[in-house]
Amino acid sequence: MNSFFTFINSSVGKKLLMSLTGLFLSLFLIVHLAGNLLVLRQDGGESFNTYAHFMGGNPLVRTLEIGLFLFIAVHIVNGVRIWWQNRKARGKRYDVYRLDENTTLPSRMMALSASLVLLFLVVHLRKFWVPARFEGEQNMAGLVVTTFQNGWYVLFYLIALVVLGYHLRHGFQSAFQTFGWKTKRYAGLIEFAAAFFWLVIPVLFACIPLYVYLTGGAAVASLR
Ligand code: HEM
Repeated sequence: MNSFFTFINSSVGKKLLMSLTGLFLSLFLIVHLAGNLLVLRQDGGESFNTYAHFMGGNPLVRTLEIGLFLFIAVHIVNGVRIWWQNRKARGKRYDVYRLDENTTLPSRMMALSASLVLLFLVVHLRKFWVPARFEGEQNMAGLVVTTFQNGWYVLFYLIALVVLGYHLRHGFQSAFQTFGWKTKRYAGLIEFAAAFFWLVIPVLFACIPLYVYLTGGAAVASLR
């Protein structure tokens, strides 16, 4: 057990933990997207509400949800530790702290994109998850539609999805480096698989607010 913690605290261990939690969170995105695309079925919100009730009421899903939040927490805490470790390491090499010399652009951009994704997540959970789990909201499809009839929310989601795409793209690149998968033989295949996560998934997510906004959402759900 002791050697496990020693490994997790090493810089390779931290990178591995970051990559594994990041991959798990990316898999969550596939499931989440598949469920949310149901909102686009033109059945007055019936399929989406059935899915949302299942997610809220099923004990296995609720347990997995706790696991999901734990993974998010580990990913964030570990990310902050790596960022801090890099900052300290560079600080040693330079006597005077200068932002442009002491942190590389990609690592600064990763920290910035991570903070923006976190901000998105806080707003997103307050908007949808809290009403579904704690406020007894029954018409989740209606809530999605009323939210995305507001152009500011649509803009916020679109910007957040571009930032998420950026974060995933660089996250995948560094995860593949950590796993040693960036060999010439597999490089093309790996780039292709990564593009599914950083490009296709955010684009499909973006279709939801855009579709609701542009069509008014009447066919998507019956409003309260
Ligand atoms: C624009 C597309 C999106 C829609 C319409 C949407 C909708 C929802 C809804 C309705 C919930 C409430 C809980 C439920 O019934 O499952 C939820 C929860 C959640 N969403 Fe999203 N979401 C979107 C995009 C995202 C993105 C891009 C992320 C991650 C970066 C994300 C992360 C989460 C998390 C972590 C939860 C709480 C866990 C869960 O309930 O599954 N969502 N979302």
